[in-house]
Amino acid sequence: MKAEGNGVGMAEKPLLKALSGEEVWPPPAWLMRQAGRYLPEYREVRAKFPDFVTLCTTPEAAAEVTLQPLRRFGMDAAILFSDILILPWALGWGLRFSEGEGPVMPQWGGASDTDLLDNGRCPGRYAPVMETVRRVSGSLAPEQALIGFAGGPFTVACYMVEGGGSRDHAVTRYKAYTDPVGFSGLIEALTEATIAYLAAQIDSGADAVMIFDSWAGVLPPSLFKRYVIEPTRRIVSALRGLGHATPVIGFPRLASSSAATYAQQTGIAGVGLDTSAPISQVRRDLPRAVAIQGNLDPIVLKAGGRALIDEVDGILRQLRGGPAIFNLGHGILPETPVANVDALMTRLRAG
Ligand code: CP3
Repeated sequence: MKAEGNGVGMAEKPLLKALSGEEVWPPPAWLMRQAGRYLPEYREVRAKFPDFVTLCTTPEAAAEVTLQPLRRFGMDAAILFSDILILPWALGWGLRFSEGEGPVMPQWGGASDTDLLDNGRCPGRYAPVMETVRRVSGSLAPEQALIGFAGGPFTVACYMVEGGGSRDHAVTRYKAYTDPVGFSGLIEALTEATIAYLAAQIDSGADAVMIFDSWAGVLPPSLFKRYVIEPTRRIVSALRGLGHATPVIGFPRLASSSAATYAQQTGIAGVGLDTSAPISQVRRDLPRAVAIQGNLDPIVLKAGGRALIDEVDGILRQLRGGPAIFNLGHGILPETPVANVDALMTRLRAG
């Protein structure tokens, strides 16, 4: 067995083995949004925090909800409980989560708004997140890994330009075409802040980091290269330059056939696939050592029963033959029955 430079203890974590290019069977498993409203114990903690940002920046509570799904289901990895929009919030950009409406932020309009981003006070404002990382890192079993994360600069920019969520990100794409200099400046500023943010998470104890580029798939190939591949490549190489060998998982959601190109050109150790991606096809085009992470339909996890077992078995068959991590293709839905997650984890352990 090779210890891939992660240190002796680290090599025992199945998630890190998969991310170093080893085929581990059954594949290590965790679920996007595994800490969340489908869990009664999460709702109980959540009810004490009228404001979601306060929950994300209260280390004791954030560490508690990070660990809840592992206690119940024994996943192979914890994902830091926070949000991709905590970074722009720490940069001084307004953020609130309104009930039933999702995130609401001021709308970015051009280069002068990028100048408002406050790098100086940013690390101080995200310091509580680092304390959460330290707490979780100190309470995991040796075989469990802690995943830190950030949004992809393009996806974070989408929320800033739109002023919140959007179906097609038309305003963002319009800005990218009509103000390429201003938009590139925003992407660069977010890329640099993301490097420092992920490096801080790694210094605090994250074993791997994931870049959620949830809206990567709304871009044509030319802009995908410029605003998704390039910033991701820059983040990975800057982390290496800082001396971190920590594996990076990229999630270029809905990027379809560009997922393999993204993996080849960015230097990531694992690629997250959304539900629509054909695993076997993507694997043929991927560098051999890149782990595939995915990609069960969150709806079939909600549905449960025979359909769930059939889909899980189909994904396991496709994941065989290369480094792999079992996950969903997108976040778990709040209405998902806890019993279905139990059934999924039991099936996965059987291989
Ligand atoms: O368990 C985990 O996966 C870790 C925590 C985590 C959250 N958000 C917690 C959260 C992670 C990794 C994220 C990432 C995130 N946040 C993404 C990328 C992944 C994706 O889903 O595409 C995006 C786009 C966001 C932005 C965001 N945060 C939206 C659009 C919303 C509102 C929609 C919703 O589901 O409520 C959030 C809120 C949010 N982030 C919640 C959680 C648990 C729900 C808040 C609550 O409990 O009231």
